[in-house]
Amino acid sequence: TPSINVNDPGLIQLVNRLLDVFSTVGVQNPIDLPQITVVGSQSSGKSSVLENIVGRDFLPRGTGIVTRRPLILQLINRPATSGTQANGVNGTTDKEANQSEWGEFLHIPGTKFFDFNKIREEIVRETDAKTGRNAGISPAPINLRIYSPNVLTLTLVDLPGLTKVPVGDQPKDIERQIKDMVLKQIMKPNAIILAVTAANTDLANSDGLKLAREVDPEGQRTIGVLTKVDLMDEGTDVVEILAGRIIPLRLGYVPVVNRGQRDIENKKAISFALENEHNFFNNHKSYKSKASYCGTPYLARKLNLILMMHIKQTLPDIKARIASSLQKYQAELASLGDQMMGNSGNTILSIITEFSNEYRTVLEGKATELNNIEL
Ligand code: GDP
Ligand code: NA
Ligand code: MG
Repeated sequence: TPSINVNDPGLIQLVNRLLDVFSTVGVQNPIDLPQITVVGSQSSGKSSVLENIVGRDFLPRGTGIVTRRPLILQLINRPATSGTQANGVNGTTDKEANQSEWGEFLHIPGTKFFDFNKIREEIVRETDAKTGRNAGISPAPINLRIYSPNVLTLTLVDLPGLTKVPVGDQPKDIERQIKDMVLKQIMKPNAIILAVTAANTDLANSDGLKLAREVDPEGQRTIGVLTKVDLMDEGTDVVEILAGRIIPLRLGYVPVVNRGQRDIENKKAISFALENEHNFFNNHKSYKSKASYCGTPYLARKLNLILMMHIKQTLPDIKARIASSLQKYQAELASLGDQMMGNSGNTILSIITEFSNEYRTVLEGKATELNNIEL
């Protein structure tokens, strides 16, 4: 099966190997991967998109204002402990989840959640605890870490939807409050913005796109995501938007079909959602000729390429840091005058040289891929 989420095994391996080599020469955190942040109107499908990207079912979703505090979700790659078999992330059901994948909340230190349903329940509980049940919001983030051998170490941010009219206990200046909350996340130059718009609403009024443009006017790090394409009126489609004829975006738009509310209530698996999405685009007369540019797998691929480019851009700096630590290391070795340790310094050098060559090949491959799909 093709890799369909952002946690591409090849990319995970690559990053892990980089980290291995760097830690050998004492370079910590050489690659700070971008954070992926969703922005859009309430109920546009932000949480659904994030979940599909991660390939796990653990975010509260539904009609109304479900996400009422920012969720800072840190995925942390951690090798499987010996004896446990790492599950593929895609199609892994919660029942299959093993002891090598778990979540931990900052507000409950030391407690490991192995059951992803329990993670969802805790997010709901902790949201209510700070905001009250009646649609209140809070800018205080919930911090959740997910440890797994199947994820790439990066940060995803789920945010409350942009809204204009206060309901329930919401403050009068709700629009401003949520906007500030969202801006705080997406103004980070390191944020990749997924500007989510439901396809059955008017793109020109898209709050997500408007806000994204405020912080990223050149569209360097904004991807348009069109959700609910399945709910569009018969005879209408997003082809003109995809062609860049409505509001052009440098990184383009990706149409997706997430699970509807009934699918969620019926506990349909993510694998079901992805299959359903695949069938939708491949059988629809407007999309079947371009189905490979539609859907979550394509979105994930785009994100993979962006992450790759990011790694590529940071590589010269990383190399410089390695070179200087290596120099320092070798100077230390020389001063020790230990012949044997001098040899191990050479060994590290040759590992790095070998690695750089291999890495260049990988990146060249990715560059070709990039040119082909015109990111
Ligand atoms: P958020 O408020 O932006 O996080 O939106 P959610 O992800 O919670 O989704 C809101 C509602 O829209 C839920 O009931 C989802 O099932 C539904 N939904 C989201 N995306 C789609 C989609 O592509 N198609 C359909 N039919 N329903 C969707
Ligand atoms: Na919602
Ligand atoms: Mg949400």
